[in-house]
Amino acid sequence: MNLTEILHELLPTETVSLLCEIGKLAFQRGMTAYAVGGFVRDLLLDTPTLDIDIVVEGNGITFAEELAQLWQADLTIHERFLTATLRWQQPSTCSPVSPSISKPFCTFTLSRLDIATARKERYLQPAALPEVEPANIPEDLQRRDFSINAMAICIAPDRFGELVDPTGGFLDLQKGIIRVLHEKSFIDDPTRIFRAVRYEQRFGFKIERKTLKLICQARDKSILTKLTRDRIKHELWRILQERNPVKPLRRLKQLGILALVAPEIRITPRRLEWMEKTGKWIKWFTESLPNEKLDCEWTLLLPLLPSEEAIASFCQRYQLGERERKIGIALLKGMKRRTPKRPSSWVKWLNPLPIEVALALAANRALVTDENWQRYFLKLRWVRPDISGDDLKAHGISGRTIDLGLQAALEAKLDKGENAFEQLKVALKRARQTNSSRG
Ligand code: CTP
Repeated sequence: MNLTEILHELLPTETVSLLCEIGKLAFQRGMTAYAVGGFVRDLLLDTPTLDIDIVVEGNGITFAEELAQLWQADLTIHERFLTATLRWQQPSTCSPVSPSISKPFCTFTLSRLDIATARKERYLQPAALPEVEPANIPEDLQRRDFSINAMAICIAPDRFGELVDPTGGFLDLQKGIIRVLHEKSFIDDPTRIFRAVRYEQRFGFKIERKTLKLICQARDKSILTKLTRDRIKHELWRILQERNPVKPLRRLKQLGILALVAPEIRITPRRLEWMEKTGKWIKWFTESLPNEKLDCEWTLLLPLLPSEEAIASFCQRYQLGERERKIGIALLKGMKRRTPKRPSSWVKWLNPLPIEVALALAANRALVTDENWQRYFLKLRWVRPDISGDDLKAHGISGRTIDLGLQAALEAKLDKGENAFEQLKVALKRARQTNSSRG
């Protein structure tokens, strides 16, 4: 099957040019290049991604080094795995200087490109990282996790667009099934259990019967205990990054996997609903305020951690820091408070808390369209009084009463919309009252 037409139809022209160029440069060096994995799968599902994985039959690392130099990219090499990553700091300005292409084709959103040597793997122990050695493309595809991820598109000039599908991935995509390629797949690499669930739920597919049996067998052999905590956390976080993480989490629970890797997590319909709403608030927040940093995965998980003990235990298990633990505890405390009425009370309550807590609280109390919460996130929390400490000092106020005065000024502004003159009056009154009651 040749996919050239589909490539042109679904991808931006620049991406197709980039693939042609890579294929040509590899060809000139006596290598054959392929686009592989998720890129091919998503293209065939009509949902193309810009995440391009390239595999070459030949030396992928020297090829990556040459491309990095040619296109002025930063390069990371993983010699042991025969892989390399090209990165551009600013995707919008990283036009590769290619003599054969007049139009810079990297001025779109490509910010990384993975290049690997076609390789086969040997797992010396269950769940250990594999030993790899160079191979041809069918062998490279055979070592992969699922048939739907084991397809390649040749980008060499003489075979451009040719689909390489040695394991029946195209048919499985049409049938909507997730199927492993050999019996030991989950023993070699138990992270594939999480991946199977993630793809099944993302695409609305079904894990094929025999594959499901192999998952259950691997689970019963306690294979997950052989994975490092870091690798399990990585998989959990990838699930939390899914568009709808509720579904895979529910499925992991149903398969008895969640209880093994995160017994602290409590899955109930109410908590899942809260998590789903938290996801919506996070989406709204990151779209409305794209420059603000947010620990999205942890925020999403919070609704499923029911107590201080659960939070502490999860944090310890996955070596999360003090900040994460504090966010969790602050949320539990916040849940015990009623939502206040006056704007100044909102600010007093929420401003000292990490923004993640406020988002999880919002999700527990209101729809994403709730104007009060939106107003807090977009406006209220940034409001400052129109007078300064110096204004109060100029009227003879000093020491800690300055803060109290400024607090009063802020309340007057937030709750009554008072102007600077009125704010100063209120602030002086509060400061003097405090002084006289102290005196
Ligand atoms: N792969 C594998 N076994 C793993 C991890 C990855 O065989 N445990 C292979 C698969 O062929 C996969 C490719 O490496 O397609 C790239 O992996 P990754 O980037 O994790 O996944 P994507 O396919 O890009 O899918 P996603 O949309 O989830 O990122």
